Amino acid sequence: MCGIMGYVGPRPASPIIMQGLKRLEYRGYDSAGIAVAADGVIQIRKAAGKLDRLVEAMAASEPSGAIGIGHTRWATHGPPTDANAHPHADTTEKFAIVHNGIIENFFELKEELLAAGREFTSDTDTEVLVHLISDEYDGDLAEAVRRAVKRATGAYALVAVAAEQPDTIVAVRMISPLVIGFGEGETFLASGIPALLDHTRDVLVMEDGELAIITAEGITLEKLDGTPVDRQHMKVDWDVEQAEKGGYPHFMLKEIFEQPRVVADSLLGRLDGTDVILEGVAWGPAFEQSIEKIWITACGTAFHAGLAGKEMFEGLLRIPTEAVYAHELRYRDPIVEPNSLTLAISQSGETADTLAGARLLHERGSRLLAITNVVGSALTHYSDDVIYTRAGLEISVASTKAYTAMLVAQYLLALRLGQSRGVLDEARARKVAAALEALPGQVESLLKREEGIDEMARFLASKLADENDIYFIGRGLDYAVATEGSLKLKEISYLHSEAMPAGELKHGTLALITEGTPVIVVNTQAHVYDKTVSALQEVKARGASVIAVAYDDDTEIEHYTDHVLRIPRTLDLLSPVLSIVPLQLLAYHVADARGLEIDQPRNLAKSVTVE
Ligand code: F6R
Repeated sequence: MCGIMGYVGPRPASPIIMQGLKRLEYRGYDSAGIAVAADGVIQIRKAAGKLDRLVEAMAASEPSGAIGIGHTRWATHGPPTDANAHPHADTTEKFAIVHNGIIENFFELKEELLAAGREFTSDTDTEVLVHLISDEYDGDLAEAVRRAVKRATGAYALVAVAAEQPDTIVAVRMISPLVIGFGEGETFLASGIPALLDHTRDVLVMEDGELAIITAEGITLEKLDGTPVDRQHMKVDWDVEQAEKGGYPHFMLKEIFEQPRVVADSLLGRLDGTDVILEGVAWGPAFEQSIEKIWITACGTAFHAGLAGKEMFEGLLRIPTEAVYAHELRYRDPIVEPNSLTLAISQSGETADTLAGARLLHERGSRLLAITNVVGSALTHYSDDVIYTRAGLEISVASTKAYTAMLVAQYLLALRLGQSRGVLDEARARKVAAALEALPGQVESLLKREEGIDEMARFLASKLADENDIYFIGRGLDYAVATEGSLKLKEISYLHSEAMPAGELKHGTLALITEGTPVIVVNTQAHVYDKTVSALQEVKARGASVIAVAYDDDTEIEHYTDHVLRIPRTLDLLSPVLSIVPLQLLAYHVADARGLEIDQPRNLAKSVTVE
């Protein structure tokens, strides 16, 4: 979720770019930089940390010139350091680029460029692109960019300037957003509309596979193959705050709707057929085959993602797996067997309890794998291996997209371990890989479907908004999802809710089920489907009002429930990525119907860095 700002026109570029980067600040970043071209030279200033650090660097010597590009980085490859901050220049320093997204084949490209004698100054995937552009340049920047991006695969937005063409910015959009803004004799470019609103409301949103040649007079828009594109500008009437939320009323809703992209990004470059490439995992096949026990430790939503992981690792891999709350673990005296692997899961990578729990297991001899969303976070410093979740900055305190990204990271790990340990034969591995690849599209279709999952969730929320107690049930993976659905609801709606395994009801909680008590059931796991239906019949017999989350093709469920939130069919193993979505929406709409402050619920902080 990096930010990009660009300017070409008669005014000094530096202050305009800095103002734009400031507007993109809400997206979060760990470093920032700017490149300005003038008099045949590109001047670059960059700094790790907050924008203030870049402001200091600029105060010492502000690059002057009327064309430039700037960037705020949210690290994906390489820690947040001055060297890894964008813009990146080639060896001749005649070209500079900024880039959002991920270059999937950067490793092979880098090997190739190194073999050809190119020197790299950063650990980023981005830097390969600027070397490619420099290699391909023969007097036409747009042509060089076009040829360079042909060699790269991935999802990205790329913006380039050349010292020899100080009147042109070239931009390519491949999934990551780019918007162009038009002024009087000046043109702006940004990764998000908020950065443009101080200057213009006349904008054009680039589409995937397009290349824009941007000058002060306007743009030439083409497909990557050179076919001209003619698209209407649009007039933006949002204020800055609305624009930051992408037109959504709350960050939570925006982040729920970002999940198709998050799932896609989390898979990007990591699946090659059935091979799983995990760039931050350093162990070899011998370790994978030797694992005798998996520990999972985390808190809150991350723990709930770990509960799903436990089901998956045990069910699929037949490896004994223990999921323990980190705040419990840290004061226990765990028996850590040799050949154990610990997964410490944390969106922020800074949660004090998770750090302590993870360190304890590590000190006792377990190999430690961090699954986190923040590159270079504290957790990564203690860990032997890392899988970054690529959810981008999550602003809403109630976590949504980070949870689905944590699930995807664990699926990838399970697929890899399953094959190396010989428990997943090729046919089954292919099936899992194909189902994983299908997930981004399925999450997208779920969120966009005609009959409207969002509308359905809003309708049901209006019925739940005045309740006092709501129960979530499920079995196995569905229970894991129920725990997260319940947490989402309680933390933002302030309604009491509880999740329990469906079979546990009859051991006590059934006493609380009376006429109209809302019970939400997740029922996607074929092997326990009928068992969950029995629990439903028990609550129905006591008058409960039942909402189910079930597959589209489940024609039986409506006989036992009052309402059904439908999700697309997938492998039962992968259903949590889909079944959580209606529950996130339900929680959101209940809180909204109750008129509550959704993005910042009372008493809660985004990361709990104290005990
Ligand atoms: C709930 C939520 C929290 C966090 C928990 C752990 O929506 O966000 O329960 O999941 O505080 O935070 P991280 O994942 O940063 O360790």
